[in-house]
Amino acid sequence: MPAPSDFKIIAIDGGAATGKSSTSRGLADKLDLMHVDTGAHYRTLTYAMLKVGASPESDNISELLGALSLDTTLEGRSARLSINNEVPADSAIRSPEVNANVSKFAAIETVRQKLFNYQRSLAEVAQSANYTGLVMEGRDIGSIIFPDADHRFFLHADEATRAARRANEGQTDSIAARDQMDKTRKTAPLVCPEGATQVDTAPFTLEEVIEKIAKLILNP
Ligand code: C5P
Repeated sequence: MPAPSDFKIIAIDGGAATGKSSTSRGLADKLDLMHVDTGAHYRTLTYAMLKVGASPESDNISELLGALSLDTTLEGRSARLSINNEVPADSAIRSPEVNANVSKFAAIETVRQKLFNYQRSLAEVAQSANYTGLVMEGRDIGSIIFPDADHRFFLHADEATRAARRANEGQTDSIAARDQMDKTRKTAPLVCPEGATQVDTAPFTLEEVIEKIAKLILNP
């Protein structure tokens, strides 16, 4: 197991379709890190809540959350959240219904509390699996989950580029509406964490963005 002092945590935050996932996965491959997509956590939780008939307005959210047990499955170098032993398919957590509800569930304090300790505990999962570090992507990683991360990046891109990326993926997604909800919620709003390096991904290819960030990590 790597010594705790050698273990590196890299936080990648940013709005929807700014390139967080592809960049984080590419960085994890390049630097041999474990990868965690926390957007997928909120999506998986949303999927599980919708499945039991809950809506973000339900008044028994805390009770329903209590019945969900969280665990981790490693798929290659990516850690996936399982809920009650199910890792739903990617198509299920990226459906129009989940897209429309995920930011509403993510704004609920008890939902975020449910994921806080779980997300922090993934550093130990990465260490136990002998990775020398963890790259975690989301909205509040450098601000709330790992404010003590070794490296923090905040990705952004203009709206036309982001819309084109989602269209290429064949997804129906209201990026601007989700960003607005994520930025204005009371708990853990989407912000550029203090001291994070901002990276505009629009003018660059994915490989260029990965290279740029890897260089900043290796030669701080
Ligand atoms: O990253 P992705 O677009 O899949 O995230 C889906 C939603 O999950 C976001 O719009 C946001 O509402 C929520 N989220 C969050 N905090 C994170 C990651 C995602 O609130 N760390």
